[in-house]
Amino acid sequence: MAHAGERPFEFRLPEVIHVGVGSHERVVAEAGRVGSGKALVVTDPNVRATPMARRVIELLSAAGLLRGVFGDIPGEPTSTEVEKGLAALTDAKADTVVALGGGSVIDTAKAVAMLATNGGMIVDYKGANKVKTAKLPLVAVNTTAGTGSEVTRFTIITDPVTSVKMLIADPHLVADVAIDDPLLTVTCPPLVTASTGLDALTHAIEAYVSTRATPLTDLLALSAIQKIGRSIRAAYRNGEDLAARTIMHLASLEAGMAFTNASVALVHGMARPIGAYFHQAHGITNSVLLPHVMDWSLEGAPERFADIARALGVSTAGLSESEAARRAVAEVRAICRDLRIPGLTGLGIDPARLMSLAPTMARDALDSGSPGNNPRVPIAEEIVELYRRAL
Ligand SMILES: [Fe+2]
Repeated sequence: MAHAGERPFEFRLPEVIHVGVGSHERVVAEAGRVGSGKALVVTDPNVRATPMARRVIELLSAAGLLRGVFGDIPGEPTSTEVEKGLAALTDAKADTVVALGGGSVIDTAKAVAMLATNGGMIVDYKGANKVKTAKLPLVAVNTTAGTGSEVTRFTIITDPVTSVKMLIADPHLVADVAIDDPLLTVTCPPLVTASTGLDALTHAIEAYVSTRATPLTDLLALSAIQKIGRSIRAAYRNGEDLAARTIMHLASLEAGMAFTNASVALVHGMARPIGAYFHQAHGITNSVLLPHVMDWSLEGAPERFADIARALGVSTAGLSESEAARRAVAEVRAICRDLRIPGLTGLGIDPARLMSLAPTMARDALDSGSPGNNPRVPIAEEIVELYRRAL
């Protein structure tokens, strides 16, 4: 695989990232610093019910920075939630957005902050680099160890008319401040821990094998893979294991920093249409697809997948690079088994309906551009076959 490093590259991140136990308290100073003191909190009902989220909202309120709370994000966000969020921002006369949640919440908040200054509808920005001007100041307080949205230049919003999960990529979507406090993840239930942790692993693996990888993203991706290989089972088994949670949180952050700069690839490209047509959460669809797509992709960059095996802690002594690469797939399969990740049918997806939609989903996947970053680039029929393997 042609690997970057010989060619120039750019590397972008939020201006400030606060990491570690207790760092949620920085939300007050940061919301005051980046904005003019009139903040709208964007969150969802599940997060809002947790004591830690209530505390973050109280901190902003006590400091006189809170103008309103928009908590109407039922799951994966559509353009309807974005429009409602924009209306809430106007009603509250707020000019700073504080996202408090996982990927769905942070993605919605990015879209709201961007549309507030750029105008139009979110569908106008589908694709890459269409945002003209800076968004409103955005502080992203992350509550899951997985999506990485707090540090990325991406937002994923579903178009309810076409059932397409629109990928919007633009440097203007990077949050000004990211806050990653493991205390906010301890209430994550095991299934969310598993699916968001495997989403982070997918980010790291896809960033590492992406044809847009760079030497800086490689460092972050391999470090994230190592940490996840070491800690994901412990975080899943005991959610209150703060040491494991802290390592997973850091790994998720590293993986996010890697993929925002190296992009994701075929797994994400294939996962979005499943989410859009079958209303499945992002993390779980990636988790199901990851080993199948790795298995199919590894011949495109066996040496990279061999590195992944070693980062996951698998011994590859005496093996050829392609044998070592297959060990990476085997280890990811073992992690999925231990975390009870089912096949697509186990998620309640009807196999006949999936296979009848698969050609359309394959086209949507290719249209998103992500499969083009894969070390082995599929044609539509090969994507259909991969959907079948993941049933
Ligand atoms: Fe993801």
